[in-house]
Amino acid sequence: MTVVTEDRGLERVRRYYACTESRLGYRYLMRGTRHHGWYEPGQSMWQFARAQRRMEDELGKRLALPVGAEALDAGCGSGDVARTLATRYRLKITGIDLLDFHLEQARRRITRAGLAGRISCQVGDYHHLPFTDHSFDGVYTMETLVHSADPARALAEFRRVLRPGGRLVMFEYSRTPETELSREANAALKAVCELCEMPTWLSMNHGDMERLLKQQGFADVWAEDATRRMLPMLHAFSILGRIPYLICRATGHATKLVNAMWGVEIYQHRNAFQYNIYVAHKSP
Ligand SMILES: C[S@@+](CC[C@H](N)C(=O)[O-])C[C@H]1O[C@@H](n2cnc3c(N)ncnc32)[C@H](O)[C@@H]1O
Repeated sequence: MTVVTEDRGLERVRRYYACTESRLGYRYLMRGTRHHGWYEPGQSMWQFARAQRRMEDELGKRLALPVGAEALDAGCGSGDVARTLATRYRLKITGIDLLDFHLEQARRRITRAGLAGRISCQVGDYHHLPFTDHSFDGVYTMETLVHSADPARALAEFRRVLRPGGRLVMFEYSRTPETELSREANAALKAVCELCEMPTWLSMNHGDMERLLKQQGFADVWAEDATRRMLPMLHAFSILGRIPYLICRATGHATKLVNAMWGVEIYQHRNAFQYNIYVAHKSP
């Protein structure tokens, strides 16, 4: 595992989301939502918002909590997953995120949607949750544990705040072992994970997260490979990012467009990763 001190890692996460390319890309291309979409065969890869709502719905189905149950959104970003779960599934959501500027956006959207009574959010680090034991019926992550410098600690925190019988759902990436990839694929994955500060993606081979969940005391650990469901969106990003990325690469500035690099390089080397849905329980 890459050794990253937590504070340095968190500062680098902030730097990634605060850079101009991330701010513009997430704002204008993704409308503030920072996760991939879910595509059934034949659905247009360009309808990002619809696909993202479907992805949030898939998370809600896996969480499968009754109306009024309380869930923690760890790494909530702009709160889009929380809004879908609060409206479609009528859950009570607490969001936590490292970045104040993501939370400002989340609070504006939650208020505008009239959901302030059902969703609250606060600044915090999911490695050190500011909640007492047994606070939630469910905990979920959507594309955020990749940023963790210490996934074992984050999972221990998720388990601590879950009530007995509570459910953990995570939509997260894993990697193909280094020995099974070409030199180019390894280099591309390493560059993207380092520039976007995603040490857990870089270090977790397929199957490692399931083992870690069991080591941390979770029961009924189950994983599903959902890569083919999100791949159309990555394909769209690879088309949009291709020309700017190639220009930057030719002029020696490839690292300035990290999101374009992600779209182009990771789509090209798509055998290097899996997009997984993990479900686990805290034993009653
Ligand atoms: C790719 S975004 C996903 C946001 C949101 N889950 C969504 O699906 O739109 C990852 C988010 O995780 C947050 N994050 C990263 N590390 C974190 C940590 N240690 N504690 C809390 N939030 C974190 C980032 O600030 C960012 O908002």
